[in-house]
Amino acid sequence: MKGRIIICRCNDVTLEDVEKAIDAGIDDFELLRRYLRLGFGPCQGRSCLAIAARVFARKTGKKVDEVLSGWRVRPPIVPINISAFISEGGD
Ligand code: FES
Repeated sequence: MKGRIIICRCNDVTLEDVEKAIDAGIDDFELLRRYLRLGFGPCQGRSCLAIAARVFARKTGKKVDEVLSGWRVRPPIVPINISAFISEGGD
């Protein structure tokens, strides 16, 4: 049952995936994020990163603030349609 707890629904990453990666030696949250593609989905991590950070903090004995201290949100902050980047006049 524990393996079916979804952490990242965009990329189908489970709690078991996160814990196995940490147990295998990943000791940096950014590396974990890139390895499991947490935050790479359409929601840009709004649903999964805080949860994954709490799991990472619990497993590594770090504080959540410490885990997230080096992580930065990159624009666009919210998902937008690609047509927003295309000018209508072609100029
Ligand atoms: S839930 Fe993880 S990127 Fe959307």
